[in-house]
Parts: sequence; structure tokens; C-alpha cells
Amino acid sequence: AYNYMFQNALPIPAVAVPDFTEEFGGRTVQFYTCAIESFTKQIYPNLGLAHMTGYNGTSPGPTYVIPRGTETIIRYLNNGEVSAAVHLHGSYTHSVWDGWASDEMAVGQWKDYYYPNSETARSIWYHDHADGHTASDAYYGQAGVYLITDSAEDALGLPAGKYDVPLALTDHSFQANGDLASPNGNPINFCGDVLSVNGQPWPYMSVEPRKYRFRVFDMSLSRAYDLFFADPSGNWITFQVIASDSGLFGSPVTSNDLVIAMGERYEVVIDFSMYAGKNITLGNNMQQAQIQEFANTNKVMQFNVGSTVSDSSNNGAVPSTLNGNIQWPAQRTTVDHTFNFQMGGESTWTINGVDFSDVNNRILARPTQGSVQLWELHHTGGPAVHPVHVHLVNMQVVSRTGGSRGVLPYEAAGLKDVVLLEPGETVRVLAFFGPANGVYMFHCHNLVHEDNTMMDAFNVTYLQE
Ligand code: C2O
Ligand code: CU
Repeated sequence: AYNYMFQNALPIPAVAVPDFTEEFGGRTVQFYTCAIESFTKQIYPNLGLAHMTGYNGTSPGPTYVIPRGTETIIRYLNNGEVSAAVHLHGSYTHSVWDGWASDEMAVGQWKDYYYPNSETARSIWYHDHADGHTASDAYYGQAGVYLITDSAEDALGLPAGKYDVPLALTDHSFQANGDLASPNGNPINFCGDVLSVNGQPWPYMSVEPRKYRFRVFDMSLSRAYDLFFADPSGNWITFQVIASDSGLFGSPVTSNDLVIAMGERYEVVIDFSMYAGKNITLGNNMQQAQIQEFANTNKVMQFNVGSTVSDSSNNGAVPSTLNGNIQWPAQRTTVDHTFNFQMGGESTWTINGVDFSDVNNRILARPTQGSVQLWELHHTGGPAVHPVHVHLVNMQVVSRTGGSRGVLPYEAAGLKDVVLLEPGETVRVLAFFGPANGVYMFHCHNLVHEDNTMMDAFNVTYLQE
């Protein structure tokens, strides 16, 4: 039984260091190299080594921390075992560097990816996007954190430095020898029985009795979570949600739980000052028929709260205005496109009956660059959940109907690039199609569905649709 709880410290991925930086007439460009490579590592305590393939031999890969407007060129070298494409999820990347699924580096090849980093501060992430094997590539380690910072966010005095911590959630299954069990074989879902944070099964983190900012990433293949922080008596602690996929909210949202689906990010500020000397559990209360729960998937990690604060800066109240300048899309009530996320057959999934291998038909929308469109996303049946991810754009979640819940307060508080569709639901999103043009993918971020092939494309174009 896998019950080695809270015995190992939470690892914090190293921050990526550029090889060199150049100034070009007022533009700052950082050059990085990142190798996709295989390695072995003890993941599950007291078992043997697991075979992984990650970025620079680590999983999660290095964390990029990039000031807004500093451009980056990252040379990804594929020294792994299969082809690879790298996608920077949540970025305004030009389509040629967006990790198009069939724009793969064969083993031994490399590609320079260029990122303008013109977005406002936000927590985005990078992961493999190779055609038909994204799920297993992500599962064996190809995913990492990418943060864009800016001065407006820095001025807010939010918890910073060691008090600003990424929590990348994944789930795996293990073989008796400590190696990972394959995620392949089930065309509907992969849900592992071991939950990890930053690559470590059920870690603990020693914290101080003060405020922390946690940036939560759901990097699982098929597992959505309903997270809560519980005190030693099991009471859920109230926290503030301050940001989601596309950055800071207008104002913080107070909550005592947080539903986060595959591909989504949320950032929270929680105050441990009342809990000196106590242990706080980060738990999971997801109740979704299709998401398999196991003996210990109701626990994620533990925070061991110490008794002293070593640095009391950036520990004040969260400002009531975080971002007064969110670029909400212009309102629009005409539905431009309706997309059905549906089971296509025994083991295939489609959008409007079109799968990604249908190269002549897979471009399902042609929004003019700079336009706003209203898309209606339908879940057409079956028990699986579909977190729908649209590349390039920021979306406003306008409505959710047909199920038991509406738009959640923290879904409405900012812009997003993933929205969760549960069975029976119809969700409307408004998106501004820009700033770049070109052909981009949109898909279900259940990576098993994406591979099987609930993915299509849209072309942001100068031409009238
Ligand atoms: Cu996070 Cu198209 O992916
Ligand atoms: Cu799906």
C-alpha cells in the first residue's frame, strides 16, 4: 500500500539560468538551453529507481522566471527517447513556436523556440505536445513552471521569495520495483493512486506562521482536484484566491475550497499565523464519478507550521484591488461557434465529430485577428470531464448551464485559458483572438482524450470569416 505520507520535504524546482543575455536596441533577449533527457530517480520512498524523461534531467523541469517584456529564446535539444514538441501553455506565442503537435523534434534534433513574454504577470507552464503521445511524455516528466513577473504585481506586496511557492500536482501509479506503471491502455482516463507535488509523493513543507502565496498547477493527465486546507481538527481554513490562468484577479475571492482541473492554474494566499506548532493538511475532496479515487488520493501534502517568522515583510493584508486593468473582451451575445466535445467511437474523442488527424477539416474556426468571438462548448455525454484549453487566447467564462453548478466565483474573477466542462454542462466563453495570428490548437486537456484525439485547430486570420 502506498501510504508513505508527509515524510519527505517538498522539492522546489531550480530557477532556470540563461546561457547569456543580449540587448538589441532596447530589447532584452535571454538565451537558454534545455535538454530533454532521460534519467533515473527514486520517486517513491523505499522502492527502486523510476525511469523518467524530463527537462534538463529533472521533473518538473527548471522554473523560468521572466520579467514581462524580456524576450526569451529557448533551445530545446531532444536527447530523449521519442519525438517531442514543446508548448508554452498560456502564452502569446507565435504559432511557429507554439508546439504544434506534428512539429516534432525527432530524437537528436533541436529547435529554438522564441517567446515574446508580453503578457502581464501570470503563472504559465510548459509541457510536451507531441502528436499522440503527449500524455505519456507529460507523465514521465516533461512539464515545468514558467512565471512572468511585472512591476504592477511586485508593487502589491504579496508574499515573495521563499514565501511564494509553486505547487505542481501530478498523479502516478508505481510498479513494485519503484518504476512508474504505464499510463497507457485506458482510452478514457488515467488516474494514479499516488499524488505528488513538485515530483515528490505526498510531501511536507515546513512553513512559518505567516502568509504564503501558493501557485497551484494541475499537471495531471486526467485528475481534477477539489483542494482544501484542513487544520488538525479537520476544519477547512479560509484562504484568498488571487489569480488564475491569465494572472491576477481584479479583487481577491475568499474561499475554503478550490476546484482545479487539468491545465488550470490558481494562486492562493493563505495565512498560517494562527497555526504555530500545528500541521495543516492540503486535502482533495473531488467527487466526480469518472475520476478514480484511491485510499490516499484525498490527501495531497502537509504544511508543518513552525513557531517563528524569519521575515515579516510582504505579510500584510492582500490588497482589495489586485489588477484594475484586466483586458476583458468586448461583450457579445451572438454565438459564433458551437463545439461538441463528444465520444466518437470505442476509443476516440472528437470536437464536432472532427478529430485532429482529419487534416482537411480540422480547422474549425477562422476568427479575424483582433476580433472577439463567443464560443459555446457542449459536453455531449458520457461520464468523463473535459477541461477545454484554447491556445493563444484569454477567455472570459460567461455562463455554465445544464449541470448543478454555475460559473464559480474564482472562475469569473479573471481571464482563463482552460475551462472545465463536466457531464451535461454547456459553457460559454468570450475570447479576444490575438495578439498574434496563425493556426493554433484547441483541445481537451485530459491528455488521454487529447491524444485520442479530442483536438482541432483555429486560424486567427486577416480574412473575414
Ligand atoms: Cu497545456 Cu495544448 O496544452
Ligand atoms: Cu476530454
